[in-house]
Amino acid sequence: MREPSLFYIPLSRRRLLQSLALVSAGFLTRNAFAEMLAQTPHTTAGPFYPDHLPLDQDNDLIHITNDITPAVGTVTNLSGTLVDPSGAPVKNALIELWQADNFGSYIHSRGAQGGQRDSHFQGYGKFETGKTGEWVFRTIKPALYTGRTRHFHFGITLPGMQRRFTTQLFFAGEPANTRDMVLRAIRDDAQRASVIREFKEDGDTKQLAATWDIVMSLTPGAYDHDDDHDHFDGPPPPRGEGFPGGPGPVPRDPL
Ligand SMILES: [Fe+2]
Repeated sequence: MREPSLFYIPLSRRRLLQSLALVSAGFLTRNAFAEMLAQTPHTTAGPFYPDHLPLDQDNDLIHITNDITPAVGTVTNLSGTLVDPSGAPVKNALIELWQADNFGSYIHSRGAQGGQRDSHFQGYGKFETGKTGEWVFRTIKPALYTGRTRHFHFGITLPGMQRRFTTQLFFAGEPANTRDMVLRAIRDDAQRASVIREFKEDGDTKQLAATWDIVMSLTPGAYDHDDDHDHFDGPPPPRGEGFPGGPGPVPRDPL
């Protein structure tokens, strides 16, 4: 029987040390580091991408323009960075968020659970990344609705791309996670773990906060296989001023 070596280092650890050695030697390129970032997995857009977008589409979903009443629910702050697999920030990308309100209802015309909807909740927002790749949303904790665990929906439209990439963000410790079909369908352990985040509560304000870095390949055609025919995915909304290609509807690949 082989004597355990005091100097045994697990393979994953050895690879990390090798990478660190390369870093210190100045030999590491971004591609060598890329193996360490799990690409954010694609998940279905689901049936509730808004069939009518709200007039207010900013990244504060709690307040609708000219409405002094805020949305009902636990204030939740989401932020992160959009990066490519090498860890480089991705600028000029459109990040969209849509989700259930405190009743479990979407702003989609067929998305009201129990006939109740919070009319003060924006339901949808968007944010365009700058040179740091960072994005931020202020919203509420989505309520549960029939058949799903708690989740947010995200859409990412990379600069120069016509297709919206869709994914979902989940809450660590949510009991229904283990039986959620969307979450279970993510077969790669690292990718599945990458979309489940801890939501920390601020002791004073009772607000929740989570950070999530979205990792996307910029390789042309990388997401061609993510061609969902089983849901309405809608066209990306008009891009804002300063977005490459200027304002106006963006043509899409046929679904
Ligand atoms: Fe959903």
